[in-house]
Amino acid sequence: MSETEVKNQVRQFYNKVGWQMLSDGFYQNARYEDLRPVSKEYIHRCHMRINRHIHQTGRFLLDAGSGPVQYPEYLTYSEGYQFRVCVDISIVALQEARQRVADRGLYVVADVAHLPFKEDVFDAEVSLHTLHHLPAEDKKPAYLELYRVLAPGKTAAVVNGWTESGLMRSSFWYVRLMEIIGIWIAEKRGKQEKKQKEKKANTSVKEKEPTGTYIQKLSPEWMRAELSELISYQVWVWRSVNVRFLRAIFHRPLAGKFFLRVLYQLEELAPHFFGKHGQYPLIVISKPENR
Ligand SMILES: C[S@@+](CC[C@H](N)C(=O)[O-])C[C@H]1O[C@@H](n2cnc3c(N)ncnc32)[C@H](O)[C@@H]1O
Repeated sequence: MSETEVKNQVRQFYNKVGWQMLSDGFYQNARYEDLRPVSKEYIHRCHMRINRHIHQTGRFLLDAGSGPVQYPEYLTYSEGYQFRVCVDISIVALQEARQRVADRGLYVVADVAHLPFKEDVFDAEVSLHTLHHLPAEDKKPAYLELYRVLAPGKTAAVVNGWTESGLMRSSFWYVRLMEIIGIWIAEKRGKQEKKQKEKKANTSVKEKEPTGTYIQKLSPEWMRAELSELISYQVWVWRSVNVRFLRAIFHRPLAGKFFLRVLYQLEELAPHFFGKHGQYPLIVISKPENR
């Protein structure tokens, strides 16, 4: 697929599918998140990690690939900002974002690999779960664009999954076993029908990303080879486990909330380790004051 075809496919997917509101009040895209009550606190705290890595006040915050700014935590990133500049290739995303950010938002249909802004203008930037949609040849330009428009002395927080996570790979058979036990227990309880619906949802979550549109993730090695000479960045943890792992392992009757607190604390103790080996790193790009 050519670069243009990839972008058209992604745009159409989000316009027609990903940002359609379903009857449960969530976007179709949220089906790929773990929204169960047992995981709520953990997911919330992971979202809030972004705030530690960006300046809390300023004039313009860039949200590159904003989508509809779908989770309430996302709004906290720009609370101290005059304007949140939402950029997306999906017009539906921006129409939905306007409903939440309202007058504090500026809405720009654009491609993150070719940002239509002057350099050094943003006091903070976030880009969450977006760069993995870019064709291979646009990934490096997108990082460089984020860096170009960032003001000196400021930081950008970028979250995307690694292609392969050592932690998730080593826990694969444990996750599979827990899934089988979960199905068996559900059958025993006569809840097979309900469980099958969940299994169906899980199957699509297996890939940990929306099916039906283009995704290509990155590795720490790629980042080092392509970017370390050009921009200054650090790898922190955003969330070390994927949705499949969460749904298989953590359950309310099995003290899931407690174990998720333990997991969160472990991530806090070794954020760089979990950032590198877990599923979702938080890449913090910083631009020096004096270049
Ligand atoms: C998985 S969603 C994430 C949205 C939001 N950041 C979030 O975390 O909920 C990816 C978003 O990136 C947008 N996107 C994909 N490729 C893009 C590109 N080249 N330029 C701008 N936005 C893009 C999509 O339209 C979609 O809204």
